[in-house]
Amino acid sequence: MSNRFVGKVALVTGGGSGIGEATLRAFAAEGAKVVVVDIHEENAQRVARAIQEQGGHAVALRADVADPRDAEAMIRYAVDTFGRLDILHNNATAIEIGRVADLTIEGWNRTIAVNLTATFLATKFALPVMMQQGGGAIVNTASVSGLSGDYGLSAYNAAKAGVINFTRTVAIEYARYNIRVNCVCPAVIATPPLLAMFGEREANLAHITVAPSSTPPRQLTAAERQQQKQRLQNAHPVGRFGKPEEVARVVLFLASDEAPFVTGAAYLVDGGLTAHTGMPPLTGEW
Ligand SMILES: NC(=O)c1ccc[n+]([C@@H]2O[C@H](COP(=O)([O-])OP(=O)(O)OC[C@H]3O[C@@H](n4cnc5c(N)ncnc54)[C@H](O)[C@@H]3O)[C@@H](O)[C@H]2O)c1
Repeated sequence: MSNRFVGKVALVTGGGSGIGEATLRAFAAEGAKVVVVDIHEENAQRVARAIQEQGGHAVALRADVADPRDAEAMIRYAVDTFGRLDILHNNATAIEIGRVADLTIEGWNRTIAVNLTATFLATKFALPVMMQQGGGAIVNTASVSGLSGDYGLSAYNAAKAGVINFTRTVAIEYARYNIRVNCVCPAVIATPPLLAMFGEREANLAHITVAPSSTPPRQLTAAERQQQKQRLQNAHPVGRFGKPEEVARVVLFLASDEAPFVTGAAYLVDGGLTAHTGMPPLTGEW
């Protein structure tokens, strides 16, 4: 294990689960002091405790990243607690699922607020701190869903597309201040909500809602769910879902001094999903 982040402070939103948790554990394992931010206080505290038990430095903070006061307070909390802020990883998400005519205005607004507006808010409040320090790195979690559309995910697709282009603009505006800004675009990652969808574990699903529909989907049988999972895995040329730790490794690379000439990038972590046109194999060897 290297010590790329000794002396650095990293704040990760949505840190109480999935990719955020994996990223925090990885930053801490490489020497960073970390701030675990999540709206789910218990999960934020669980992750901070786990890092402390491994000998790392971590504090937990409950915040709603879509609330401008909370966003400002969490950046201030990082600086007050650890004296600086070197890395910001905007990663929290909330989603309302449903076809466009069924989406609620509240669900649309919340999806845009937690994925996109929150990324703006945290960035807005972190930039002056990083400028004053002489530099920093911001890594946003976008998605392959910001590059193409998905059935039932229009609000999320719009928000993640926004995150990708927002990343580019911030990168341009602050490159001269030694602040690099990149995003990762994961495909399907085996995080708690995804595993819960296939009935494979319990998870906090408070931030994932389904719009009321005039044609509610039929409950799938266990066999159908397994079939659906297999199909979704097979859509990735590598034949499986990604792991949260595999996204974390790319986030750490982008935040590290190993990527000094990488800024404004949307980095795929997708097992080849977007390299594929979706054409079935023509040669019979698969
Ligand atoms: N899992 C995937 O397949 C996948 C694929 C592509 C992109 N992503 C993106 O990766 C990121 C992490 O996803 P994940 O799968 O690890 O999700 P997750 O559900 O495991 O974690 C998301 C966390 O965000 C927190 N959160 C929700 N609303 C919040 C708010 N208002 N303020 C603070 N915290 C809030 C939740 O409590 C939760 O702990 C998200 O941005 C997601 O869009 C995930």
